[in-house]
Amino acid sequence: MRKHVADSQQRLEIAADAPLGPTGRPAREHPEPAPLDGHGPARTIAMVNQKGGVGKTTSSINLGAALAAYGRRVLLVDFDPQGALSVGLGINPNALEKSVYNVLMSARIDPHEVIHETAVDNIHVMPANIDLSAAEIQLVGEVAREQVLARALARVADEYDVILVDCQPSLGLLTVNALTAAHGVIIPLETEFFALRGVALLVETIEKVQDRLNPSLAIDGILATMFDGRTLHSREVIASVVDAFGDTVFDTVISRTVKFPDATVAAEPIISFAPNHKGADAYRRLARELIARGGSP
Ligand SMILES: Nc1ncnc2c1ncn2[C@@H]1O[C@H](COP(=O)(O)OP(=O)(O)OP(=O)(O)O)[C@@H](O)[C@H]1O
Ligand SMILES: [Mg+2]
Repeated sequence: MRKHVADSQQRLEIAADAPLGPTGRPAREHPEPAPLDGHGPARTIAMVNQKGGVGKTTSSINLGAALAAYGRRVLLVDFDPQGALSVGLGINPNALEKSVYNVLMSARIDPHEVIHETAVDNIHVMPANIDLSAAEIQLVGEVAREQVLARALARVADEYDVILVDCQPSLGLLTVNALTAAHGVIIPLETEFFALRGVALLVETIEKVQDRLNPSLAIDGILATMFDGRTLHSREVIASVVDAFGDTVFDTVISRTVKFPDATVAAEPIISFAPNHKGADAYRRLARELIARGGSP
């Protein structure tokens, strides 16, 4: 991993008597971010892990909602044919006339046409449905097939501060498109025994994209999810992740709680569904940490 923004974190103030956080480092407090003077152009972040069920979609929705609560204009791009992010924000993927698929397949489709407002202030969604599963094959024959999403997002980037792309659990052409369109990558890891399995391949893919397509791509951070502080196992897994990736690992760790599935059923971010829950607090903390690291305006 040659490029990451974690270095800037070193410069943050750490109180001498700060208690240790779950990552075994002093728990750094990040200030409430100042409001922005103006908006755009967006910094684009891809939420990637080819392993399924690690919290990519949950983190996209809730980090997005936390950034939005801090006044950032956020576009969430559903880049998974399962459409879980769309559903999580109250959009029925089966009822869509147009989705991100149409934007990818035809430059004549204005991306604005497929962007939906949501019940949450400052959050817009570019939804997906099962149509997107065909794109992987249909794009193979295209010229500059890895840059299709980047070109589409460039047309709306000025209107947002952050664009979060929720990837499907694969390292195929769609994910490569997300990595090519992105300034940064967040890698959620489920805090369980096989957390690091496959991460080497993911980092290799990121490095190939840096070499060939997107030299300025940075790893913004590795996010431990579904942490259970009561178990020695969870703490050991975090220790091994910190051992492997050092300060690239976010201080913020997301605990395992049923409030997340509950919020999904309610088709709302936990930030608005249960704003006082510790899960909502964790994603607000993550948003502040990301902003402090320079990963978001
Ligand atoms: N911190 C958490 N605690 C408990 N459950 C969680 C947590 N985060 C996510 N979940 C639940 O775990 C399941 C998988 O989460 P999510 O859909 O965010 O993962 P994903 O990486 O996007 O999965 P996929 O690879 O299938 O797209 C969902 O049912 C979600 O509600
Ligand atoms: Mg998902």
